Amino acid sequence: MTHEEKCIRPRNERTAPVKTPSQALFVRRLLRWYRRQGRSLPWRRTADPYRILVSEVMLQQTQVDRVLPKYREFLRRYPSIEALARARVGEVREVWYPLGYNVRPVRLWGIANEVVRRHEGRVPAERAALLGLKGIGPYTAGAVRAFAFRRRAAVVDTNVRRVLQRVFFGRARPDRQVWALAERLLPRHPYDFNQALMDFGALVCTARAPACARCPMASLCRSYDRFGRGPAGVRAVRAVRPERARPAAAPAPGRRAV
Ligand code: ADE
Repeated sequence: MTHEEKCIRPRNERTAPVKTPSQALFVRRLLRWYRRQGRSLPWRRTADPYRILVSEVMLQQTQVDRVLPKYREFLRRYPSIEALARARVGEVREVWYPLGYNVRPVRLWGIANEVVRRHEGRVPAERAALLGLKGIGPYTAGAVRAFAFRRRAAVVDTNVRRVLQRVFFGRARPDRQVWALAERLLPRHPYDFNQALMDFGALVCTARAPACARCPMASLCRSYDRFGRGPAGVRAVRAVRPERARPAAAPAPGRRAV
């Protein structure tokens, strides 16, 4: 078997997939960075699947700073999945209100009711059972499995997608390729790796102003030349800020910058 073939060997449930040297380096550097710079967040100090589910639904399209106070308030009000299921949905929406995206509290309330009715009040750990709950998609299912049940599950949200596309592809790629890469990268203990990727996307490899100068991935990043090197790189980064951007020609399919 050639090196290339080894690297695309299908994943066996019990063993970590073989990684290319740059994939292995990425994982090691990310975990080292996370030990020093990772955030201490309340949903990382619990293994309660309900609390983790609440945090993940709140964090969809909302920044951590805004979620923190609401997460605490919400759990004081609804300390268990049964308490949430018993509440009036209108009240749940009011409690949630300043976070916006009002469909999310309604979905969460619906999930709580389904879990109580169909799963005896226990959030399921299996992917198919999670995806069977209305309002849970691949992202939330992965997050609940990885963070509440410590399973080998990839977790790809907007931040993670951007980091992986920039570092490994240098341009936008279809979702299935990004998910496949995220799965391949999972180390033996994937919990910290997944949390680290989220923090790295939020703190270093940000959408508008990636901190390439202090990025531990600089030497292996396929976008470093575009974003990280000299004044041209800085201009390229600024140019994508929405408040400054002029209408641009649509990029060719598959060549979209990330
Ligand atoms: N965004 C979504 N899930 C997150 C998590 N577990 N930690 C930080 N940010 C997140």
